[in-house]
Amino acid sequence: ERSLLGLKELAASEIESILDRASHWDKQEEKLVPVLASKFVANMFFENSTRTRFSFEMAEKRLGAEVLNFAAAASSVAKGESIYDTVRTLESMGIDAGVIRLKPEGVLAQLAEKVKVPLVNAGDGNNEHPTQALLDLYTMRQSFGSLKGLNVSIIGDIKHSRVARSNLWALQKLGANVTFCAPDMMKAPELEIHAPYISIDEALKADVVMMLRVQLERHDKGIDMKADEYRKRFGLTVERAAKLNPSTIIMHPAPVNRNVEIDDAVVESPASRIFPQMSNGVPIRMAVMERALLL
Ligand code: CP
Repeated sequence: ERSLLGLKELAASEIESILDRASHWDKQEEKLVPVLASKFVANMFFENSTRTRFSFEMAEKRLGAEVLNFAAAASSVAKGESIYDTVRTLESMGIDAGVIRLKPEGVLAQLAEKVKVPLVNAGDGNNEHPTQALLDLYTMRQSFGSLKGLNVSIIGDIKHSRVARSNLWALQKLGANVTFCAPDMMKAPELEIHAPYISIDEALKADVVMMLRVQLERHDKGIDMKADEYRKRFGLTVERAAKLNPSTIIMHPAPVNRNVEIDDAVVESPASRIFPQMSNGVPIRMAVMERALLL
């Protein structure tokens, strides 16, 4: 039984084995393969989610697990109960694993020390979102075969992005070159020693152009830059997308602010992998839940 808290501490061989196992599940024609029958999994979302929550549930159900869904707003958290007490409550009822999304940073690591069942990180503040990065790597591997030597630009709100951090750690372990591009207010200075910040024109020369959502809800006082100015300076507009190398792919973890960080017409253009990313979330999470409960 194994937790998945982040990719920073995970060996390249472990990441590769999850990607390979996801490929096995991706090729599986049977929709239901109940290897997790009689395992009880709680999806505990203390922060909103569409893709991650539903693809974990899809993955768990495809593997035959019994699924319990917990939403903070409809629980005793709304009466002030702590995250720790909530997780311990579900653990005492007999869950075999927990999938958890949290806003405050540092809480997941503390929880993992106190809780005995495996925990899977479904988004941890600004820190890590490991299954998102795994599905991103899987999507890149589908397009390019290997990640070694691949040039990946991550563009946008790096500061608040757990997606950028998990991708940075995992991509570098697997031999890809990562660069960042962001307005000053969205830079994460502590990451500068790991990946350089470059201009938007340079960033768009990469093999993979990963656009990030401007996370308005995580900016203390809102952002100083207006949406149309952000789009003009850092957005993947139709004009910029037309100048990309023909083999370049466009990614975005979604939800998308259409016509802010990426133009409406670019979201579903042939170079876009945004919807395949969502599809790939299911086999990746099947591999992660199998690893948590069986391996
Ligand atoms: N990409 C992602 O984590 O989306 P949700 O917030 O909808 O889960």
